[in-house]
Amino acid sequence: MGKKMIEIDVNNRFWVMKKLPEGNDFENALEIKEESKLIIPEGCFATKNKYLSMDAGTRMYMTEREDSYQPPIPIGEKLMGTVLGEVIESNHPEYKKGDVLRSYGQWSDYSLVDPTSMYPSKVDTSNIDLVDYVGVYGANGWTAYVGVINTGRVKAGDTFVVSAAAGCTGLMAGQIAKIAGCKVIGIAGSDEKCNLICNDYGFDGAINYKTENISNKLKDLCPEGVNVYFDNVAGSTLDAVLENMANFGVIAVCGLLENYASKERLPGPYNYDLILMKRLRFEGFFSPDFYHREGEINPILEKWDNEGLLKLPIEITDGLENLVSAYSKLFIGSNTGKVVVKV
Ligand SMILES: NC(=O)c1ccc[n+]([C@@H]2O[C@H](COP(=O)([O-])OP(=O)(O)OC[C@H]3O[C@@H](n4cnc5c(N)ncnc54)[C@H](OP(=O)(O)O)[C@@H]3O)[C@@H](O)[C@H]2O)c1
Repeated sequence: MGKKMIEIDVNNRFWVMKKLPEGNDFENALEIKEESKLIIPEGCFATKNKYLSMDAGTRMYMTEREDSYQPPIPIGEKLMGTVLGEVIESNHPEYKKGDVLRSYGQWSDYSLVDPTSMYPSKVDTSNIDLVDYVGVYGANGWTAYVGVINTGRVKAGDTFVVSAAAGCTGLMAGQIAKIAGCKVIGIAGSDEKCNLICNDYGFDGAINYKTENISNKLKDLCPEGVNVYFDNVAGSTLDAVLENMANFGVIAVCGLLENYASKERLPGPYNYDLILMKRLRFEGFFSPDFYHREGEINPILEKWDNEGLLKLPIEITDGLENLVSAYSKLFIGSNTGKVVVKV
């Protein structure tokens, strides 16, 4: 071992893929393993993890596709995601033992963090609960903000539609669009979720995509046309919304939930021609591109949070060993708001 490595003894459990998941069968695809040492190269540090953020986008790591914005994680290697934890050993001058950080680490008891791979940030828990740094004050909050304000460029009076509306990102996007003065319609997978987003989160209307025809219901709910669609799912939902876009509307492309489990590339929208007919703007956005804006965006989110305008339920699953049931919620739709594993 080079002399700049630091080796520490830890009992570390970590999750890997033993094979690629078929559809949403994570139970048979993921396994938990153990090791007794961590080797910390120069420029890195180790954290004891407290919370692991469960994110639907990480499903893209579990495919063979090389062309996504982040390459797949090979079979047998530690699965990764955003973690909240405390530095227990450091081989980096700026990160000290005891620092509490949000960083890009492993789905494990302890993470080895390379700060050059994704920006870690020290978090201040004097006014904000630690877990909220992967909720309102983390990548989902910034994604919702940027998607609505910067990519969607909403204006007061706009009609705004969001899919996966009762999930973490969608729930915040809908509330931010309400704050901006929009009429907000959410698309979600059950009547309970539809009632919840209207009754407790201020949405003006909701569509249960599992039981209702999205295109027809949008015609009823917004005959004026949709100005901004915050797209979390792509696929057939996107086609239904395209039919109802207003001229010069915007599709803010956040996620591809209908496609994540597919081995093949899916064809683009059937209604592609409507992009021209309605002079639409399509624009994708990806949270690591605006992590550096944390200092600008978090105070805005904090103000709304303090005013009671931005709420986010957090579902916490206890125990690293129960990670699969927590992660699966995102794909079977049994979560409302943010899903987190407490280590
Ligand atoms: N661009 C970025 O930087 C960025 C950052 C964060 C998140 N995202 C994207 O935001 C979306 C939401 O992610 P999240 O982590 O916040 O998860 P989430 O919304 O909390 O959970 C996912 C929800 O999506 C719905 N869903 C699952 N599969 C679906 C399908 N095939 N069709 C329609 N709805 C489906 C489920 O609710 P139902 O009951 O409604 O089906 C589920 O509760 C994902 O597409 C993710 O990739 C993008």
